[in-house]
Amino acid sequence: MTEADKGFSRRHIVIAVDGPAAAGKGTLSRRLAEHYGLHHLDTGLTYRATARALADRGLPLDDEALAAEVAATLDLSGLDRAVLSAHETGEAASRVAVMPAVRRALVEAQRRFALTPPGAVLDGRDIGTVVCPDALIKFYVTATPATRARRRHDEILANGGRADLAEILADIERRDARDTGRTDSPLRPAADAHLLDTTEMGIETAFEAARTLVDAALGR
Ligand code: DC
Repeated sequence: MTEADKGFSRRHIVIAVDGPAAAGKGTLSRRLAEHYGLHHLDTGLTYRATARALADRGLPLDDEALAAEVAATLDLSGLDRAVLSAHETGEAASRVAVMPAVRRALVEAQRRFALTPPGAVLDGRDIGTVVCPDALIKFYVTATPATRARRRHDEILANGGRADLAEILADIERRDARDTGRTDSPLRPAADAHLLDTTEMGIETAFEAARTLVDAALGR
């Protein structure tokens, strides 16, 4: 490889960030995308948008062929977490996410997104294991369920909402069980992922740790 090939701006870069809900992967991914000038896709939103589109059209959530059809026509450019943040949308998303035909359609769209120059940071549950197994670098961001529940709780309060910590914790544990227990593409770290446990670490420390590792992978 020549020095020019190693040049940051000339190289297509894909960064995979996986982990359970509320571990900090979204914030970390946005920071990495901003720092390296890459696109960012929160793949959880693709599952949320599919579930939401079915509900909005009054269609059932458990018809796999129908859900896959909706997933295949999804426009990835207009996904907004604020619009898709409702608790019921998250629940419905984790139900459509167990359907292999839905996953096939969304993974195809996510892979196309990853190919957009100059590259992208994708965050989700199966990016390093299924969507982009050849990513330049992979992170698995985690934290204890109690820490993640407290973060989610504080976030809701900061946005003026009302929340019950015990309920959020139960919800997180239920979601973890569904995400790690499903047969197709369960949540798990890729063998070559760097583990970032954000239980004690602030997001800034996690970002610095990730940045050092990405720089090293880029030969900088
Ligand atoms: O991260 P989130 O809460 O927005 O994700 C919503 C659901 O989508 C979650 O239960 C897991 C699922 N999901 C998935 O199966 N694969 C991904 N790459 C991203 C999310």
